[in-house]
Amino acid sequence: MSFNDDPQWWRSAVVYQVYPRSFADADGDGTGDVRGMIDKLDYLAELGVDAIWVSPWYASPLADGGYDVSDYRDILPEFGTLAEADAFVEQAHARGLRVLIDLVPNHSSDEHPWFQRALAAAPGSAERELYLFRDGQGPDGDEPPNNWPAMFGGGAWERTTNPDGTPGQWYLHLFDIKQPDWNWENPAVADEFDDILRFWFDRGIDGFRIDVANSMAKAPGLPDCAVDPETGEPVAMVLTGTPYMNQPHVHDILRRWRTVADSYADSGLGPRVYVSEAWVTPAEELAKYIRPDELHTTFNFDALMCEWTAASQRNVIDLTLASTGAVGAPPTWVLANHDTTRVVTRYGRSVTGARFTPTGIDHEAFAGIGAVPAGATDVALGRKRARAAVLLELALPGGAYVYQGDELGLEEVEDIPEELLQDPTWERSGHTVRGRDGCRVPMPWSGTQPPYGFGTAETPPWLPQPTDWSGLTVEAQNRDPNSHLALYRTALAERRANPALGDGGLSWVEGLPEGVLAFDREPGFRCVVNFGPEPYSLPEDAEALVASGDVSAGVLGADEAVWLRR
Ligand code: NOJ
Repeated sequence: MSFNDDPQWWRSAVVYQVYPRSFADADGDGTGDVRGMIDKLDYLAELGVDAIWVSPWYASPLADGGYDVSDYRDILPEFGTLAEADAFVEQAHARGLRVLIDLVPNHSSDEHPWFQRALAAAPGSAERELYLFRDGQGPDGDEPPNNWPAMFGGGAWERTTNPDGTPGQWYLHLFDIKQPDWNWENPAVADEFDDILRFWFDRGIDGFRIDVANSMAKAPGLPDCAVDPETGEPVAMVLTGTPYMNQPHVHDILRRWRTVADSYADSGLGPRVYVSEAWVTPAEELAKYIRPDELHTTFNFDALMCEWTAASQRNVIDLTLASTGAVGAPPTWVLANHDTTRVVTRYGRSVTGARFTPTGIDHEAFAGIGAVPAGATDVALGRKRARAAVLLELALPGGAYVYQGDELGLEEVEDIPEELLQDPTWERSGHTVRGRDGCRVPMPWSGTQPPYGFGTAETPPWLPQPTDWSGLTVEAQNRDPNSHLALYRTALAERRANPALGDGGLSWVEGLPEGVLAFDREPGFRCVVNFGPEPYSLPEDAEALVASGDVSAGVLGADEAVWLRR
């Protein structure tokens, strides 16, 4: 197999997200590793994706699952070695698969040597200027420098202790205490990240997924967030813009990175590309991240959070196409990732979506980010909808992401014992929000009981797997032509072969019954999704190419989707 050498490959690529800790465990110690990833390259090539995004594999104390990097130029020993990472890239390329890796530029680990040096240095020193250290407020400096909250709960400032044991300055951490924010006003930080990009581009990486791409730039003077007059709590308008999110000058950083990527245009691999993780609303604001001289693509979280109804889905698709089209970029569809509740579980709940609110995501109502709303989950319904959802996702114009395990129809694991929870959200929220571990449970590959080919009975997976996943393993699904995995393989193969799919446009089919959404793409393709509840009779002359359910009687059932040749 050879590369898709179209220089625009990224406009329609299907990218598979590997979360290394939970993907495949070659050495059987209960933690995923790079050798495991190499072993599964044939699986990914057969699945039919175009590229792989590897969540952080860098040296890290894993305080936030690897999004706390202590060395950006080395691999976590538990995961493997730099030589193995090189082999992974080389062997992925040999199978025609491109490789994106994660860049975590907002913060490092507190165990990064530069932060350790900063702690040991005096206030005002060059070492401290690499991060955001400030004196505290109040007579003894014992109040934080401002009122910013941290994403995982609590305040965003941590006080240091001087060598003589007295309380010292504070440092900023928008996420966990162990994730100090870099000072992006310091040119040394910008230079360092250019160098990190080049380090990996030189090793043949095809691109980067940029972690919290909207957060590096902070408002000058680090002013307080607005305060809710009723509660006195800071109102962090995280998604629309705060003093620490979506500041206009963040775009200068993105333009700089684009220049670095573009300098590799003639290096033989084709363009090096970026996808941004930016939880930004509204869509026009997000589209600024993918202007022609900034990043190439950005995850569409509006669509991820959209409820499972025809009207809402059509609305979000229209907004996305308009906003990305206005800047000449392709949309990037994503059903789930390592931060969100598994799609099967989300769509199996009574509340299937959420709206961005000015202060963030409505946790009470949304089954999405580690929150568990009241009411039982109908997993069978969720799985049925997830099958339809992937056909919708893969039929839409642009690129798409598949989170590991979604091709198996895995559900969120909601009964992980509290003492085993690893997400820092659990501690930082005072044990009120369980966090994201439920979507990070290691993959079931084979066998009829845990660890399903991941680890051994003596060294079980780092998070426990359910005992009823024997029918969901890759081995079991390989035997079933109607399995979730089989649907993914069929759909991805059709997507590759069908010239109507990938980049481009769509036209809606009007006049359909309520609950049914259909669009055409040229040449000769139609996608029909029945959000329910009534069955829908398909046009008699249409040939079904791929269907999420049984359409042999010419009827599309509730919560089903079909691809047709017109
Ligand atoms: C977004 C990542 O996806 C998430 O896992 C991480 O906790 C935060 N950024 C902080 O790096």
